[in-house]
Amino acid sequence: MQFSKFNFKDQKVLVRVDFNVPIKGGKITDDSRIKKALPTINHILSCDPKQIIIISHLGRPKGKVNKKYSMKKPASRLSHLLKKRVYFEKNSNLRKLNLPNKKIIVLENLRYDIGEKNNDEIFSKKLSSYANVFVFDAFGVAHRSHSSVVGIPKYLPSCFGLLMEKEIKHLKTNMKNPKRPFVAIIGGAKADKIAVINQLLKKVDYLIISGILANTFLKTKNYDIGISKFDEKSIPICKKMLIKYPKKIKLPKDYITGLEFNEKTKSKLEEGKKINGMIMDIGPKTIESYKKILGKAKTIVWAGPIGVFEYKKFEKGTKEIAKFLSKLNATVIVGGGDSGEAIHKYKLEKKITHVSTGGGASLEMLSGKKLPVFKVIK
Ligand code: 3PG
Repeated sequence: MQFSKFNFKDQKVLVRVDFNVPIKGGKITDDSRIKKALPTINHILSCDPKQIIIISHLGRPKGKVNKKYSMKKPASRLSHLLKKRVYFEKNSNLRKLNLPNKKIIVLENLRYDIGEKNNDEIFSKKLSSYANVFVFDAFGVAHRSHSSVVGIPKYLPSCFGLLMEKEIKHLKTNMKNPKRPFVAIIGGAKADKIAVINQLLKKVDYLIISGILANTFLKTKNYDIGISKFDEKSIPICKKMLIKYPKKIKLPKDYITGLEFNEKTKSKLEEGKKINGMIMDIGPKTIESYKKILGKAKTIVWAGPIGVFEYKKFEKGTKEIAKFLSKLNATVIVGGGDSGEAIHKYKLEKKITHVSTGGGASLEMLSGKKLPVFKVIK
């Protein structure tokens, strides 16, 4: 089924979006993922459907109801952007809903139910029962085998939305035969990106690493990383990668550390193999060494911020690299909620080839893997 050819008139349409937007201090700090879903939602509305039911995850609440991850704020932002009434269904038990007769409904966080992550069949069936057609428009989770990604399409006629079509087109045209040097930058706080690095290392000329993954690599190299976060279980795989690709992997040489994970903590420039504090950003020497590599690159993919850029004293690495990328004569793809937020924060979107809504998803696609959603929706 093709989105533009489908007649949504009088249909109950279930739309999976990625409204996993950054919320800091109770406020949405970047709503671009919601804005980017608007063309799909508006198109469906223009067909006069019976109802449009919007589903998404927010954060990683691990199968438990947690107010911090409620869809209430994204729902109200959607209403503001659409300039239309949006009904937020606050019943967090998505298996037992009695949906009112409202045109636009946003459901609570899919990940409040562990069935989402486990691709539970009963959960998928239940979600499907609320509608008679499914539109998948959440590129950010296209690499997940979750219920709302691969489960629902088993029970409903399904298609991709306009954002998915756009993301696929951009990534395919820009990345089919990447011009070299091809450099990837991986940062952020998600340790599970390690899974894609191995594949990516086969494709890229250099892999610049920061964030929790850099800490894990440094720990693997027997650095004392002080009180920095790292992922213990990734150490064996990091070890293998360091042996196999010693020249491709680029790690920080100096760091801006703090003592606690907050804005007020005292910051310090540290260097070498013995670090006392918590690594929050890269230092000036590392920024320069990364710029040297990036300056020669012809294709760059960036997923995950360099440092904790939401705190001013730890934003320099992310800001400098983002600005540097925007001036390059190269194809630059930036992916993910946080890196996308950085690009918007520093007003660089127009100077970047493509800002993708998916970080992990774009990395997996670039690594050559067939994403789970493409196995169930053509
Ligand atoms: C993202 O932020 O990259 C997407 O929303 C996916 O989130 P996840 O990594 O928690 O699945």
